[in-house]
Amino acid sequence: TKKMILDLDTGVDDTLAIALALGSPEVELIGITGTYGNVLLEQGVRNALALTEMFGHPEVKVYAGLPHALKRDGFEVEEISAFTHGKNGIGEIEVPEPTRQVEEQNAVDFIIEAAEKYGKDLILVPTGPQTNIAAAIEKKPEIVDMIGAEVLMGGALTQPGNVSPCSEANIHQDPAAADYVFRSGMPATMVGLDVTLQTLLTYKDTQKWRDTGTFAGQKLADITDYYIKAYETTAPHLGGCGLHDPLAVGVAIDPTLVDLLDINMMVDVDGPTYGRTIGDPDRLNDPHKTMKVAVGVDVQRFLDMFMERITKLVAQ
Ligand code: BDR
Ligand code: CA
Repeated sequence: TKKMILDLDTGVDDTLAIALALGSPEVELIGITGTYGNVLLEQGVRNALALTEMFGHPEVKVYAGLPHALKRDGFEVEEISAFTHGKNGIGEIEVPEPTRQVEEQNAVDFIIEAAEKYGKDLILVPTGPQTNIAAAIEKKPEIVDMIGAEVLMGGALTQPGNVSPCSEANIHQDPAAADYVFRSGMPATMVGLDVTLQTLLTYKDTQKWRDTGTFAGQKLADITDYYIKAYETTAPHLGGCGLHDPLAVGVAIDPTLVDLLDINMMVDVDGPTYGRTIGDPDRLNDPHKTMKVAVGVDVQRFLDMFMERITKLVAQ
């Protein structure tokens, strides 16, 4: 089995990413590293501790990462994040307080140590700003050649952004970190809005979790319904909520779920399209492509996998 680290700003779809990873026999979730974004770092870490316990996996260790972007001081949760994910990140739903504490080791050192220990068996899945990943590469550049892959949720190649005309939320929080990772030689697959806005979840789906009658099933349905409701306001034309973060987990497990374009990417960190993920013109002709971008998705196959695995997880 592959070893997976989820790097999360634990909001609602990050919660679904945890559930999908825990419900997938192909991967072992060896740790969750906390970042900021949908919520402050502390809240995201607390959510990750509480949710792994609620899903019956108290063995998953949680590490705190950096509390704000590399080149910025301080961080405040944006209004749109609080609206979409609830102030607590999990749809204003209460879940039992975790009984464990966050690990003493920081997220950046944990990522480096895991790269050294597991090498090509390690998959990094960041579903928030890539600040921790960039910091890990900065500290130990060799990790880009050591690990198996990074599969990140963020950006958009064929779509406008979701927090500004050019910028997707995760990239927007720390464009410099994303740009640094993209240019680092990291073997990265970008799972952006191009595909994540095609994979949608509805109340009919979450009802299946509620119908299991378990505590976890009911809570997960309530948490997710808050998110679906937010989408009804912000993107009513979609008819459901985007499964951003869980799709990245799905692609990490089974890359054949998506069509991949080999292209070296960069991020506009200071120009008129601030936050935009774009092909790097200086490396367009470079025969060595370090990155892939998901540009098509087998929607039904992913939704079936997602529903089957998470329903089974919460039914236990
Ligand atoms: C991304 O932004 C966050 O709000 C979500 O959790 C997801 O990772 C979507 O743009
Ligand atoms: Ca996220």
